[in-house]
Amino acid sequence: MAGVEAAASGSDVQSGNMVFKPILEEGVFRFDCSADDMDAAFPSLSFVNQKDRDTLLLTTKGKPSFTPTFECVAGQQTVKIELPAGTTFYGTGEVSGQLERSGKRVFTWNTDAWGYGAGTTSLYQSHPWVLAVIPSGEAFGVLADTTRRCEIDLRKESTIMFCAPSSFPVITFGPLPLPVDVVALFSRITGTVFMPPKWSLGYHQCRYSYDSDIRVREISRTFREKGIPCDVIWMDIDYMDGFRCFTFDKERFSDPQSLVKDLHDTGFKAIWMLDPGIKHEEGYFVYDSGSEKDIWTQTADGRPFVGDVWPGPCVFPDFTQSKARLWWSSLVKDFTEYGVDGIWNDMNEPAVFKTVTKTMPESNVHRGDAELGGCQNHAHYHNVYGMLMARSTYEGMKVADESKRPFVLTRAGLIGSQRYAATWTGDNLSTWEHLHMSISMVLQLGISGQPLAGPDIGGFCKNATPKLFGRWMGIGAMFPFSRGHSEKDTSDHEPWSFGEECEEVCRLALRRRYRLLPHMYTLFYLAHTKGIPVAVPTFFVDSKDSKLRTNENSFMLGPLLIYASTTPDQRVHEMQHTLPEGIWLSFDFDDSHPDLPALYLQGGSIIPFSHPYQHVGEADPSDDLSMLIALDENGKAEGVLYEDDGDGYEYTKGEYLLTTYVAELQSSVVTIRVSKYEGLWKRPKRRLHVHLLLGKYATLDAYGVDGDSIQITMPSESEVSDIVYASNKKFTSRIETARQIPNVEKVSEAKGIALSRTPVELKSSDWVLKVVPWIGGRILSMEHINSVMLVNKQRKWSLFH
Ligand code: GLC
Repeated sequence: MAGVEAAASGSDVQSGNMVFKPILEEGVFRFDCSADDMDAAFPSLSFVNQKDRDTLLLTTKGKPSFTPTFECVAGQQTVKIELPAGTTFYGTGEVSGQLERSGKRVFTWNTDAWGYGAGTTSLYQSHPWVLAVIPSGEAFGVLADTTRRCEIDLRKESTIMFCAPSSFPVITFGPLPLPVDVVALFSRITGTVFMPPKWSLGYHQCRYSYDSDIRVREISRTFREKGIPCDVIWMDIDYMDGFRCFTFDKERFSDPQSLVKDLHDTGFKAIWMLDPGIKHEEGYFVYDSGSEKDIWTQTADGRPFVGDVWPGPCVFPDFTQSKARLWWSSLVKDFTEYGVDGIWNDMNEPAVFKTVTKTMPESNVHRGDAELGGCQNHAHYHNVYGMLMARSTYEGMKVADESKRPFVLTRAGLIGSQRYAATWTGDNLSTWEHLHMSISMVLQLGISGQPLAGPDIGGFCKNATPKLFGRWMGIGAMFPFSRGHSEKDTSDHEPWSFGEECEEVCRLALRRRYRLLPHMYTLFYLAHTKGIPVAVPTFFVDSKDSKLRTNENSFMLGPLLIYASTTPDQRVHEMQHTLPEGIWLSFDFDDSHPDLPALYLQGGSIIPFSHPYQHVGEADPSDDLSMLIALDENGKAEGVLYEDDGDGYEYTKGEYLLTTYVAELQSSVVTIRVSKYEGLWKRPKRRLHVHLLLGKYATLDAYGVDGDSIQITMPSESEVSDIVYASNKKFTSRIETARQIPNVEKVSEAKGIALSRTPVELKSSDWVLKVVPWIGGRILSMEHINSVMLVNKQRKWSLFH
């Protein structure tokens, strides 16, 4: 067999001593710098099964389509792969800046990157992985399977270059016909995302910090009073006693159990932070037990390494050792008894203060398990640290309660982290540029195997303006992981903190999310079981269409296309929407708003939706279910709905229901029916409301019983066009009359006038903003203006339309 012969000799490649072999399945190849390097390669921490990377696939027929060249000098390995001219690049994990990565260079080195920008070359996670889309539309993936700092250089046209300080295997995937095929294959090999508990797909509200149980109760109560859906409240570091992990501040969080009980009673979950830095303090039980077990990361001369983080001097568990992971997971297990629904692992690059490198010395020593790579210095394990911490946290939660799915959020990660944790894009800024980048960042993470990702909605550093916050919530509510968060000393960033217009936009945005949760949960089931990504760039629909490849304003959730404006002055409905070819039917839930994204459903698809619950636990399987249907040019459509308990593992024993619905138009009647289903769950007795989309927000509706056929008789063509006309008119008037959030950033133009202490009045075509200067104060900067606005509101000064 050709592939096998090549594996033995590497004979038909002009690449020095390079060897390669087919592995895993058709189209996947492993390349090494030499046979010796292949034998000596470090274990893979990204592959789910190490032996998959090492085992020759005997049944393969193909040969590699693209062959890398290797240069190995003094241990440093440079790998180049040249692809056809016109190839575009994506992936490379958590990266800021543009969606298309061609022309860019990054370095995988997990970094505490507070306030990063579009050009920052190392963020919190490491994904030495590139997805290449060749001009034919076919896709090809390349993984540099190294934990070391790795340069990914895509500056030379159609060329991928990886460079790392010690030799590493390169794995290529494809080319396969579609980008989604490559991502799914890559995900299956590096591990699909853990099955998230359904509540974790709700909205999360975070703050650095809700610093007392009184404030947490106030926040949760306000969500319910205001009818804004939310499932989770997060406790940042200030809940701890002096930043000591696994402790609670005795005064401000004196009774966490009863706090959590109250949260649970009102449908909220509680997520608590755990950092890796353990306060270096004798008498503190975590420090004492870790010292006794000798599990701290060591300096080159064998002493526990001490570095500063929030609590001051800290030691750091060496998560590369199984005894340290077990120790940590048993602490996590005990911690869950306080009523912990999820855990947030932060600062796990690991971040170390008062250092130039922002982390521990590369010469530090990790006494790692043999199967992870044995005893190595920190340079070797740096990028792995966060993932192993998340893994150990996940395992602790799992042991604590086998009947619940753990939920862990990690800041640092490596390819493979998705098996244990969700992620967010770290300490971003409250700016329009960051709002825009947040779309590409979530998509790149998805392309790199991590589908459960989102930014700090509203931006972490600095104050958002009402307009920015509302827009961000509109878009963030459509991201796989949806959490608002803001830094200490910023103004309040809850959905109601920016005035009534913004509050209404947030309410609409989050109600949309909750309506779409049955669809999102189905997407996660497909991601977990098959590796199919959840949110993907629009070009995934038609990778041959080169004009889609740079579109950063839209993305897909299955067949649902989200189109967003990320500039303050442009309303989404005024933008030119670049859509893939084919049928795309716009729809809304009678909630269209100039500050919310536009929604389209692809012809040929059906997606489920539900009532906009206040929290996931409010839903019952027997509640009414709804479907959106967009027929294709042949009058057909298909879609799936996955349902299970929403938590636990009974679904692995068949306790679920996966239904395929189809719709077909035949002699002016559209019939919607179940075409197949699987799982042991009995179909709940419930009403099914179907909405056949006609375009321009128009629908034809019918009701029936789920499981039975439902029919819709198509009206005549002229009646359809009357319905569409009327609906479009209704939409236009809704958009025209919607109270838009004024673009307060315009106030900056008037700074000089404001400083003169006279009232300022700004006008645009559709609003007038009056700012009355702060009594006895001065408007000094944009931040100042935000706070003036809040003060205004409390003192009954307001924005006028
Ligand atoms: C880090 C995290 C941020 C958190 C803060 C305090 O900056 O990225 O989300 O709020 O630490 O714990």
